[in-house]
Amino acid sequence: MITRAVVRGVGHYLPERVVPNSEFEKTLETSDEWIRSRTGIERRHFAAEGEYTSDLALKAAQRALADAGLEADDLDTLILATSTPDYTFPSVATQVQAALGMTRGFAFDVQAVCAGFIYALSNADALIRSGQSRRVLVIGAETFSRIMDWSDRSTCVLFGDGAGAVVLEAAEGAGNINDRGILSTDLHSDGRHREALYVDGGVSRTGTAGHLRMQGKEVFRHAVEKLAATAERALAKAGLESADLDWVVPHQANLRIIRATATKLGLPMERVVVTVQDHGNTSAASIPLAMSVGKAEGKLKQGDLVLAEAIGGGLAWGAVVLRW
Ligand code: UT7
Repeated sequence: MITRAVVRGVGHYLPERVVPNSEFEKTLETSDEWIRSRTGIERRHFAAEGEYTSDLALKAAQRALADAGLEADDLDTLILATSTPDYTFPSVATQVQAALGMTRGFAFDVQAVCAGFIYALSNADALIRSGQSRRVLVIGAETFSRIMDWSDRSTCVLFGDGAGAVVLEAAEGAGNINDRGILSTDLHSDGRHREALYVDGGVSRTGTAGHLRMQGKEVFRHAVEKLAATAERALAKAGLESADLDWVVPHQANLRIIRATATKLGLPMERVVVTVQDHGNTSAASIPLAMSVGKAEGKLKQGDLVLAEAIGGGLAWGAVVLRW
């Protein structure tokens, strides 16, 4: 027997304001046609004034707990992936812990940009398998609209705000590929590529929040190569092949990257959950958001074999294989 981290509930929250591509035509030399054809994005949500990352995270967390049929105090751990925290400290995780009414256990943030949710899932899996935690709430939440340079058309049309959350619970498995829960994880980073995608401000360096800067083509090139490779490695660690997968839940940055990765894995797009058209790139929130939307659409069903993968600033990337 082996302890597995099994998904018990999932939920998401998107801020009310929806911004279509056409909105950017008013202020920038861009077009709905360019954004759709180069990225697949049609619209994104932006947080309202006075609405913060912790607010989005709290609502996603409450929905995931309701889906799991659990109360906040049934949790012993809360891990929150974000690169856009409300404050430098304390962590967004502890703010959400208090707002949920979770009075026990421990909460912390993980910062691995767009790969943040994959890193957080992997940490949650390790805590559960080691016996340190039994129920872990894993949240991805971002307000990237707060770090956009609105005069830079090559970045500001790409990102959106949102949050998604998953409740993981320890369960006994047989130790084979038929077990429910996380079957394998694969994490990587390579800090030599820092300048491909970064924010040009920070507490220690500038005393400001800064703006996102990206060499899009460079990140695109790394994404297509590294996402398929990490997916293959995660599958191999579990003793599985891509043909075994029911669903891929990719990081939602660019439909062309999602398609290229599916092609490399030899999978038809019918087996890929795609939400990028409605949410844009929500960084660490993108995978749990897509999981929650995918489940609501009847795509992710108990027993399905699911692969999630992501890459982002760092560069940091990775994949998780789990049976839903
Ligand atoms: O979440 C982290 C991971 N991030 C990613 O995965 C993002 C990866 N990169 C990408 O998705 C793509 O590289 C972009 C969508 C960012 C850009 O697409 P691209 O096909 O690589 O375009 P490009 O950067 O090569 O730009 C092509 C042209 C340029 O004009 P010139 O130099 O050919 O005259 C850009 O200035 O498109 C221009 N351009 C735009 N035109 C209209 C760039 N942004 C825009 C825009 N509207 N918003």
